[in-house]
Amino acid sequence: MKWVYIEDIAKYVGEKVELRGWVYNKRSSGRVRFLLIRDGTGILQCTIFSPEKEHPLFDKFEELTQESSLIVRGKVKEDKRAPGGYELEVEDIEIIHIAKDYPITPKPHGVSFLMDHRHLWLRSVRQHAILQIRAEVIRAIRDFFDGRGFRLMDTPILTPSACEGTTTLFETKYFDEKAYLSQSGQLYNEATAMAFGKVYCFGPTFRAEKSKTRRHLLEFWMVEPEVAFATLNDIIELAEDLVVYIVSRVLDKRKKELETLNRDTKPLEKIAKPFPRITYKDAIKILKEKGFKIEFGDDFGAPEETILSNSFEKPVCVTRYPLKVKAFYMQPDPENPDLALCVDMLAPEGYGEIIGGGQRIHDYDLLLQKIKEHNLPIENYQWYLDLRKYGSVPHAGFGLGIERTVAWICKIDHIRETIPFPRMLYRMYP
Ligand code: 4AD
Ligand code: MG
Repeated sequence: MKWVYIEDIAKYVGEKVELRGWVYNKRSSGRVRFLLIRDGTGILQCTIFSPEKEHPLFDKFEELTQESSLIVRGKVKEDKRAPGGYELEVEDIEIIHIAKDYPITPKPHGVSFLMDHRHLWLRSVRQHAILQIRAEVIRAIRDFFDGRGFRLMDTPILTPSACEGTTTLFETKYFDEKAYLSQSGQLYNEATAMAFGKVYCFGPTFRAEKSKTRRHLLEFWMVEPEVAFATLNDIIELAEDLVVYIVSRVLDKRKKELETLNRDTKPLEKIAKPFPRITYKDAIKILKEKGFKIEFGDDFGAPEETILSNSFEKPVCVTRYPLKVKAFYMQPDPENPDLALCVDMLAPEGYGEIIGGGQRIHDYDLLLQKIKEHNLPIENYQWYLDLRKYGSVPHAGFGLGIERTVAWICKIDHIRETIPFPRMLYRMYP
């Protein structure tokens, strides 16, 4: 008998097939026994019917517990009453393993308990839906960049120097030297962009963030494009195109999962180009009007981002922050050298920053000066300075955080559910 997956079940109506999976739930009604089987791709109702009171499969049914693993064989039927519209008329059950006292029962559990059991929590319908959407977001991102001629260039995780400031570095030993876990692939991306024109890197990044918020992970995944000869405007357009592409792909391919999450898709359907653009100065004005005590020169925290993000229906691009709240590599605005040619994209519905990027300094002397001003060890940045010595060109790029993007698209409260095994302040288990 053919082993098939539940997501393909519609193709096998009237045929006898084999499913391999786990018991999600079970119930009885008169002479019928219902088994809800999950196989990783979906959940299917499997029914055992007997005109007699006794039936050998009824005994097996009794033995099965939540999350026991099994193989079931039977005939696929279309049935409007079944959840999903299909069911399997069971002819045979092969028990693989009986699960004893599965800790996550259908009753509600506290978050801390669920986080301690994250390795099992992943099997629940809601977590499954979120992580399917995450996988779709990642697939969309790869298709987007590959389809536009960007080259995937993997950047190192172990690095000798900081990209995004020295306060959030994870330090580790590198034999007799010190190394830091990468905060961003950007600096290396700038080198590969000079070799390949347009590139992207996509990998885990690490920040020893001491803040315990709904938006921060210590280990998160970031996709970072970098384009030689691009300006700030070019990469804002690229960022808009990317976000539109991701959202429309999820709307197209992951309807069922969005439904499972009760995600109202109307706000997502509005995500089209162009996105509103405001400057940092405009943002300060909006915040002041809303009663915030904020002055020009202050950076935005989560509350400020939430307010700004709630002020627009689409993601908003905030440009030209003061240089002093941004990283050392930011190109100054020729019209006001205290401002950076940078952009943060804030997702709507209160979600805040999903993208950070901008134009990089391409002048050798200016970059050297900034490295010194930021007290960074020049010897570790010599290679980076070299890029400004041999055919330096204006260039720009950005980073999009996967987990923040998934949290927004799924409209979930906390970033911890957007990655299989979140790394957070005071939590590294499981
Ligand atoms: O704004 P950030 O710090 O920008 C950079 O790292 C640049 N070097 C990227 C570049 O230009 N190539 O981070 C970019 C994005 C943020 O907008 C956010 O989505 C995500 O990375 N991010 C985090 N996500 C989860 N947890 C954290 N602690 C994050 N820090 C940043
Ligand atoms: Mg940022």
